Amino acid sequence: MPDVTFLNIARTVEVQDGETILSAALAASIDYPHGCKSGRCGRCKTRLVEGAVDLFEHSRFALPPEERAAGLILACRAVPTGNASIVWLEGDATTRPFDTLRGEVV
Ligand code: FES
Repeated sequence: MPDVTFLNIARTVEVQDGETILSAALAASIDYPHGCKSGRCGRCKTRLVEGAVDLFEHSRFALPPEERAAGLILACRAVPTGNASIVWLEGDATTRPFDTLRGEVV
């Protein structure tokens, strides 16, 4: 089973075969930035610093092809194929785990 190192918090977690990086992080009580858990919102956008992942189906709005080509992944859709190191892009999840947004649909 691969290890994934979360460089934001200098912590390494073992990821079960077939498990996504986000799922492994949450199971390890890491307050990883996320929203939909289904590749639609982009909140779990992550830089893959080392290693490789299988990236499952996701919205082009959440991760456009040019961002994927630049080394970004979605943690909720990424299953590591070996040891990996990542950095999540959203701000410090330990102090701001949720956002509340107000809006109006017109
Ligand atoms: S949590 Fe929404 S795209 Fe990953």
